[in-house]
Order: sequence, then C-alpha cells, then structure tokens
Amino acid sequence: MAGLVLHVQDHLPASLNTSGLLLPAMHALSTLFVLGSCAVQTVLGRPEDAARVKREGAICKRAVDSFIETQKPIAWSKLLCNIGSGGCSASGAAAGTVIASPSKSEPDYWYTWSRDAALVLTGIADSFYHNYSSTLQGTIQDFVVSQAKLQGVSNPSGGLSDGAGLGEPKFKVDLSQFTGEWGRPQRDGPPLRAIALTQYAKWLINNGYKTTAKDVVWPVIKNDLTYTAQYWNETGFDLWEEVPGSSFFTIGASHRALVEGASLAAQLDTECRACITVAPHVLCFQQSFWKANGGYIVSNINGGEYRTGKDANSILTSTHNFDPAAGCDANTFQPCSDKALSNHKVYVDSFRSEYAINSGIPQGKAVAVGRYSEDVYYKGNPWYLANFAAAEQLYDAVYVWKKDGSITVTQLSLPFFKDLLPSIAAGTYASGSSTYQSILDAVFAYADGFIEVAAKYAGSGGSLAEQFDRNTGAPLSAADLTWSYAAFLSAADRRAGIVPAGWSAEHGKTLPSSTCSRIQVAGAYARATATAFPPNQTPNAAAAPAPKPFPSGCATASEVYVTFNGKVSTAWGQSVKVVGSTAELGNWDAAKALPLSASAYAEGNPLWSITVPMRAGTAVQYKYIKVGGDGSVQWESDPNHGFTVVAAATGGACAAQTVGETWR
Ligand SMILES: *[C@@H]1O[C@H](CO)[C@@H](O)[C@H](O)[C@H]1NC(C)=O
Ligand SMILES: *[C@@H]1O[C@H](CO)[C@@H](O)[C@H](O)[C@H]1NC(C)=O
Repeated sequence: MAGLVLHVQDHLPASLNTSGLLLPAMHALSTLFVLGSCAVQTVLGRPEDAARVKREGAICKRAVDSFIETQKPIAWSKLLCNIGSGGCSASGAAAGTVIASPSKSEPDYWYTWSRDAALVLTGIADSFYHNYSSTLQGTIQDFVVSQAKLQGVSNPSGGLSDGAGLGEPKFKVDLSQFTGEWGRPQRDGPPLRAIALTQYAKWLINNGYKTTAKDVVWPVIKNDLTYTAQYWNETGFDLWEEVPGSSFFTIGASHRALVEGASLAAQLDTECRACITVAPHVLCFQQSFWKANGGYIVSNINGGEYRTGKDANSILTSTHNFDPAAGCDANTFQPCSDKALSNHKVYVDSFRSEYAINSGIPQGKAVAVGRYSEDVYYKGNPWYLANFAAAEQLYDAVYVWKKDGSITVTQLSLPFFKDLLPSIAAGTYASGSSTYQSILDAVFAYADGFIEVAAKYAGSGGSLAEQFDRNTGAPLSAADLTWSYAAFLSAADRRAGIVPAGWSAEHGKTLPSSTCSRIQVAGAYARATATAFPPNQTPNAAAAPAPKPFPSGCATASEVYVTFNGKVSTAWGQSVKVVGSTAELGNWDAAKALPLSASAYAEGNPLWSITVPMRAGTAVQYKYIKVGGDGSVQWESDPNHGFTVVAAATGGACAAQTVGETWR
C-alpha cells in the first residue's frame, strides 16, 4: 500500500488524525497484557533458567491464547465486512471485490488492489480448505467471477490481448479502471491471484468437482500463469508500490504460481508447459537476492539499491511460500531454512533502535516491526501485518521441526538461535533431546512476542489499522486494513498448527543445471467467459480422484520453444514486437504482434527477445516492428526473415531453437 507515497506525503498533516476512529487511550485488548514476558533468554543447561523460561513462557502463552480467542471472530467479521457487495463496510463495491480499507480519505484506500485482494482470498481459501463454510464458498465464487471480469478491463497498464493489462495494481471498487498516476505495473498481482484461485480449484478437484475447476476457475488462472511466464523478467513496482525494479516478493510469488500451476494443470488433464519451462529460471533468479555477506535478502534489486533491502517483503515471501512438505529448503526460502531464519534476525534487528516503542526491549525479545527502516510513509511506523508475519514465519518453522522431529542449527542460522539460547551450538537436535525442546519453546515464545506487540497496540474493539505510531503505539493510517486481519488470521492458524495444503514446492526446488536463463514465454490470453458456479457443491471427500504425478518436461510435446533475439536499436519510449506468418505470430496482423522484452538490452547490444512455443516443422516468415508510445507502427523493410522450426524433442526437456536477426 502507499503507492503514491511521494505525492501523498506532501499533504500529510503534521500530526495525523486517524479519522477520529481510534483513540489511543482505548486499547481495550491491550489490558490483557500485564507484562512483556514473551521470549525470555536462557542459558542452556542451567535448570533454574529452564524453569524460568517455562514459567514465563507459560504466562506469555496464556496471554496470547486469550488475545487470539477474542480477536479471531472480530478479525473474521471485519475482514468479511470489507468484501462486496454484502460486506458491512463495502457498500457500493461490486460482488467479490475486496476493498483495501473502508478509509476514503487520508488515506484513500477505497479501491481494490490485485495484490491485497489475492492475499486475502488465499487466506480465505486456505481456511475454507480445512473447514467448509457455505458463506465463504459464496465469497470465493464471487471473487472468481469478479476477477474473470477484471482481467478484461483495459487500463493504463494495457489490455488483455498481450496480457499487459493484468499488471495493473488497482481498480475502483465497481471494477472500473483507475486512471490516476500510480506506480505501475506491479507484477505480483497475477501470480498471487493464480495462487488464490488455485486453492479453490484444488478444493473443487478433491471434492469431485473437477469439471467446475476446469471450466470456470482454470481459464482465469491460465491468463495469470501466461502473464507470469511472459513478464516475470521485466521490472515493475514492488509490493509497497514505491520501488521500480525486481522485487523478491514478486519473484517468489511468480515461482510458486508457476510450480503450483503446472501441478494443477496436470490434475485437470491439461498442461502449462510454459510453467514447467520457466519456473526453474525464476527460482534461479530468486537466489540472486541473497546477500551472503550479511546473511539476509536484499528485497529490491535492479533499481532498489538505494535502500538496505532489509524489508518485510522477504518475511512475507517466506510465509506465503510456506509448504509443509518442503522441509527447511533454502532455495524456496522455507520459513525454517537457515537463510530465512538468518534473514528474520537481520530484519527484526533493523527495527530495534528505529522505533521509540522498542526502547529498552533486549535482544532476543520481540519488538515492533515495520516494512523497512528507511520508510517515511506516515513518517515510517510499525505495521500490524509485519508483526503477524514475523510471528507466522516462526510458527511455520516450529510446525516443520515438530513434524520432522529434528532441528538443524547451521553456522548461518546460529546467530538467530543464539539470541534466544545464548549457549547453543550448530548441530542437529533430535526430538526427545532437551535442546530440541528448549529450541521449540524459545522460538514459539519469541513468535508469541510479535503477536503480543500487535495485541498491545491494537485499536479499540480489536480493530487493526495499517500502522501504529512509532512513538506512542497509537493506530495510524488506514483504519480496518483488510490485509491486517488476514495477516492476523493466518498467523493464528499457523500457531494452532493449521497449515496450508502446500504447493508442490518439493518438486520445484531444484535449480537449473546450467546458468539462469531469462526465458520469457509468450502465450495467448482469452477472456474467461464461463462464470456461473453450479449450486450445491458441498464437501464430498470420497469423490477425490487419485492425484496425478507432478509433470516433467515435454515428453509428448509437438512444440518447440523458439527464442527470437532481435537486434533493434530503439528510441526512448519505443518498443519492439514480432509478427509473422503463423497464428502464434499473429498472421501478419500488427495488432496481434508479440511484445519483445528489453531486459537484456544494453548499450552496444540492443537485444530484444521473446520465446514463443511453435509447432515443430513449420516454415515461418516474420518481421520485427517498432511501436511508438502513441501506438504508431514502423515495419522492417523487405524481405521477410525466415526459418523452419526444428523437430520436437521426444523426451525430457522441451526442444528449443534460437533465431536472431538484426533490424533491416
Ligand atoms: C470452522 O468454521 C466455523 C464457522 O464457519 C467456526 O466457528 C469454527 O471455529 C471453525 N473451525 C476451525 C477449526 O477453524
Ligand atoms: C532477468 O533474469 C536474469 C537472469 O536471472 C537476471 O540477471 C536479471 O536481473 C533479470 N531481470 C529482471 C528485470 O528480472
């Protein structure tokens, strides 16, 4: 949120009035907390310390138990209030539309953001997956229908024909376009929406409604997967809508969407070959955000380097890509991986001396955390959702350690653990050992501490705004932020051991054998038109089909991945497309030409490229065209370029071919 930070800030009043909604003195729920006892330090091996930890940990646990019990129904009801058309705070919003917050001024969040909406729906679908509710089913179905419509709404980022419009970050609550100045495109919306819809598609399949999943939900998902496979290697704005570049969060979401999409396609007896081809290269690129010297993720690269990069971006990536079956895999940045734990410490420490409300809280105890320490939006404050995410990552870790019956402390994660247990050493601790138990207790109590902080500063009646004041803890910025409630609910579920179904991460955690490729696969987009859900699709676990294996390679493909590498010098504002004699290349119709990517364009090497799946053996003629910012088209001079697509591969990886020409 906060997309227009540079503009908004100019007219922020010096002392912010939070819409008169929340009086700092009325933190009703904070009175539950008499002491900040969560995450006490101990020295292993001293029985009196262990006993103290147990005692104080138990007090903390009870306080957090009690907060969660009170807060859960409040959060559910306030979250659902923010979804149209029936939501009590969303009057005027179209059916299935998730508003960011009911706040219509200072700040005006009376819009639907693709990212926030998808994250909220993923939370709803994850909960629904475990616990059927016809109300939630109606909400999810309305959302699917609303997104099918939204995909077809042309907007300042573009339209659906080449997918570009899917990168638009926000729309009005009646689902019409928002034409104001904004940080666009934001490329996390499509993969996050694919992930959200996939959770419902999986429920449908597992309850015998595969046809519905395939006819109604899949066409929407497919557009988003196509977008992700095509545009993942382009820059865009980060999840806070401030930094143009490459965002760890966006890349993490893209990778998950492609892997899970490939798996879903197989369950639906179809395929997403571009997903399989591209995903390993997205994962490969994702590794480059890691800063080994420092032990943390630099959340924004290719443009965001003016900040340290220590950012809730990375914590949210870890929690949203949690897959209980993936263990502590570091490539996918699983919550219990040593990289993610080291990053957690570095991130949290970056706020210890940043906020006045953190003063006096020692190392090893939870503090208030925000987006990133250089934040100036509303003068830069802790965010509720960041505190919940910091807790959630640790609950996820505890879940996997319990499930796997052991905890490995590496040299990399050692500093994280030492804050909690100063005498701990690197090693693997099996369940049954006292060290294993001490780690579980300490990490769980540390996680509870982050919930306790959020609880202490929650608004009256359990309301959760966007931020709380760095000096006073008073709620700030947008009231009743939908994402704040979703973040609370998922953290509360993970704490209770209720975890999402997983996204096949274990099949998608292998890096490519060679170097990272920039492969961007162009695909076709189509408006999803089947938008009615049959009635009475209630749980029927007995109808679950046997799962299909995770798809691999191009064993039956008649397609070849043809990469066009055009050398085309362009002027500022011009883009390059390829058009040619086959359907994939638009049958010589400039309006259907495929956009090439300039992500490898350099001074002296004006490279534009795109990879296009084409039928083996076809004779192809093509030309490049230059498209001006005003839509004007300049064609290459004759003759056409030509080549014949090679034979398809018969197994393993997809056949590939590269053609390259210089502009004539
Ligand atoms: C399941 O949902 C119902 C309401 O639909 C709720 O009362 C109950 O607490 C939920 N159970 C769990 C385990 O979340
Ligand atoms: C594209 O991918 C390459 C290879 O991983 C990487 O070096 C480059 O920074 C990426 N660029 C963008 C904008 O994603």
